[in-house]
Amino acid sequence: MKKILIGVTGGIAAYKACDLVSRLVKNGDEVKVIMTDNACRFVQPATFEALCHHPVYTDTFATSLDGEIHHISLGAWADVFAIVPATANIIAKLAHGLADDMLSSTMLAATCAKVIAPAMNTHMFENPATQRNLAILRNDGMQIVEPASGHLACGDVGKGKLPDVEDLFEAVQAAAVWPKPLQGKRVLISAGPTQEAIDPVRYLTNHSSGKMGYALARQAYRLGAEVTLLSGPSALRAPYGVTVLPFVSANDLFCLVKDRMDQADYIIMSAAVGDYRASEIAPNKIKKHDEQMCLTLVKNPDILQYIGEHRHQQIVCGFAMETEHLLENAKAKLAKKNCHMIVANHLKQAGAGFQTDTNVATLIQPDEQKALPLMSKDELAQTILLEMMKIENGGQAC
Ligand code: CTP
Repeated sequence: MKKILIGVTGGIAAYKACDLVSRLVKNGDEVKVIMTDNACRFVQPATFEALCHHPVYTDTFATSLDGEIHHISLGAWADVFAIVPATANIIAKLAHGLADDMLSSTMLAATCAKVIAPAMNTHMFENPATQRNLAILRNDGMQIVEPASGHLACGDVGKGKLPDVEDLFEAVQAAAVWPKPLQGKRVLISAGPTQEAIDPVRYLTNHSSGKMGYALARQAYRLGAEVTLLSGPSALRAPYGVTVLPFVSANDLFCLVKDRMDQADYIIMSAAVGDYRASEIAPNKIKKHDEQMCLTLVKNPDILQYIGEHRHQQIVCGFAMETEHLLENAKAKLAKKNCHMIVANHLKQAGAGFQTDTNVATLIQPDEQKALPLMSKDELAQTILLEMMKIENGGQAC
């Protein structure tokens, strides 16, 4: 459970902070809220009190029933202090160290991780003064969540919208992870299924949802890495802070991997790559004729094996999803594909498989194997990344 302090300032996007508080509370985090006077003109403190089950703080000089000096104690309590939305005014005040109300005073006193989510009219956001102030905050170590572009409440179209609640949630969760052992590391992850076209209408694919690879990307970002996620067709939303490059076929993925593998420190192949593709893609829809039809398939490149043969400094991890002889098959893949680790999982085991949010895996390395219990894909992702760091450090945990 993380302790999250949310500061709400007076912009129309203040109502979206309610969703964020609700999302954090549902995640099991403890949330407290500070509002400026202008924020209270948009949303009633009672709304936040009902969502986070704590009194909302608005006044530096309010009588303190618990005897605490709240603009000091709240900052000391929090793991993360996020201002959502942050107006141009609070950004200017923070950049110059002003402390003339409850929110700015608490921010000045807080030493925890700080997140600023600006939301305002495009011209206010692009004004050199606002940009100068944001640069100061960035330089002071605050994490700025870039606003989204689109229709703004004032009627303009442009940059200045508060991002989706999921992105804000992720920015807060990532800020709560400290230290950042993957800072400075580049992590390349593949996820999801491949699709091999047969004709303009049909393709060969598999049941992969991409959940494992997306969880790996999310966790690698939280641990501080610069993450590139190569994603096959997937219904999942792009993880916050991650560069997502789409692919369709195994050959598309192979091209992306060949282009990027040399710049990566860690490579994780969690994509379910189709082993075969149609020898020819029919230019038009194949019409039905006989009772039986033959489709000639040719083998796709084994991308992980290529990585294993061409790797230099990279730590490489592959996956093995099996329906029988799990450990023997996974160990054979570890050797054949020359990787540091294979994550073996059994499709038929309860809680494991393509579409689930959980997995049951065994981490296999040349000289050891670790059977892990049932856990969420996010927990497994974190375990895999920590194990890869250990491999890089010659077996020492970081
Ligand atoms: N893989 C790959 N390229 C392929 C096939 C698989 O890079 N053409 C990678 C997968 O991303 C995974 C690992 O190799 O990390 C094992 O994939 P899996 O489908 O379990 O095994 P295969 O090597 O395809 O062998 P088999 O189909 O015989 O089980």
